[in-house]
Amino acid sequence: MSLTTFRASGADRTGDAQAERNNAAKVTAPALLDKKLSHQPITVVTAYDYASARLVDEAGLDVILVGDSLAMVMQGHENTLAITMDEMLLYTRGVRRAVHRALLVADMPFGSYQVDESEGIGNALRFVKEAGAEAVKIEGGRERAELVRRIVGAQVPVMGHLGLTPQSVHRMGGYKVQGKTMAAMQELRADALALEDAGCFAIVLEGVPRELAKVVTEELRIPTIGIGAGPDCDGQVLVLHDMMTMTFSPPAKFVRRYADVSGVMREALGSYKRDVETRQFPSDEESYHLSKEMRERMAALTEKAG
Ligand code: KIV
Repeated sequence: MSLTTFRASGADRTGDAQAERNNAAKVTAPALLDKKLSHQPITVVTAYDYASARLVDEAGLDVILVGDSLAMVMQGHENTLAITMDEMLLYTRGVRRAVHRALLVADMPFGSYQVDESEGIGNALRFVKEAGAEAVKIEGGRERAELVRRIVGAQVPVMGHLGLTPQSVHRMGGYKVQGKTMAAMQELRADALALEDAGCFAIVLEGVPRELAKVVTEELRIPTIGIGAGPDCDGQVLVLHDMMTMTFSPPAKFVRRYADVSGVMREALGSYKRDVETRQFPSDEESYHLSKEMRERMAALTEKAG
C-alpha cells in the first residue's frame, strides 16, 4: 500500500503545473492541423501508466500515445507482436485517468485490425468506449486506406504510421530504415497521400531518411510526426523509456537521452537496501507513536506481565 497519492480531484489540485494544465486548451485532432499551418512543432511522447502520463500531461506535451511499444518496454517482449487488445485497453484506461489536456491516442495492436475491417472498426470503437481514447493509431499504407476511411466514418480519428512499422518486423527482416530506394520512396509517398485522402489526421514517419520525410511533410496537408525521420517533420515522438534511459540495450541513433532515470533508481534502491540492512531506516521520526496515556498503560501492562 502507498499513502503517497496524486491529488486527482479538481478541487484540491494545487501548484503551478496543475494550474497551467487546467488553463491550457484541450488538444484535439483538428488542433494539430492548426499547429502544422502555423509551423508550430507538435510534441508527442508515449506513456503507459497513470503516473508517467500525468507527468507528461503536466509538462504540456500535445499528444500522449499509448504505444504498443509497451510490449517491449513494460512487458519485456522482444517485439510488439504479443500485446493483446485487452492489455492495450487496460493500459489505456490508466493513462486516461491521468490525462486532461493532451490528445490521447491508443495504438491498435497487431492482429486487432489485420484480419477483417469490421473487426478493426469494432476494436477502434472499443478504445474510445471502454478506455477513453480520443484517437487510434494504425500501421500501414494503401492497404489500410479503406479501413481508415471506415474508422473515421465511425467518428474515431486515426493516426497513420509509415516507414519502419514494428508490427511488420518479420516481413521487413528486422528493424531497418525504410524508403532508401527510388521505388521505396515512391511507395511511401503514395501511401502517405492515400492515408491523408482516407482521413488520417496525422501520420507517424518512423525510421526513414530525413530527405524523404521532408518531401512527404511538404506534400501532405496533415502533420507528420517523426521518429528517426529527421527534424523536418511537423512534430516528433519518442518512446518515454528510451528518452528517460529506462531501457536495457544501446539506444537507436535517433534517441536522445533526456534523463538517466534508471541511474537515479539504481542509486535510490542501493541506498534503501543499505539503510534497511544497517537499521537506519525507518527512523523514529518515520514511525507512528502511541499517545502518552497509551504508552503508560502499555508499560504497566508489560510490567505486570513481566
Ligand atoms: O508503439 C509506439 O511507441 C509507437 C511510436 C514509436 C510511434 O508506435
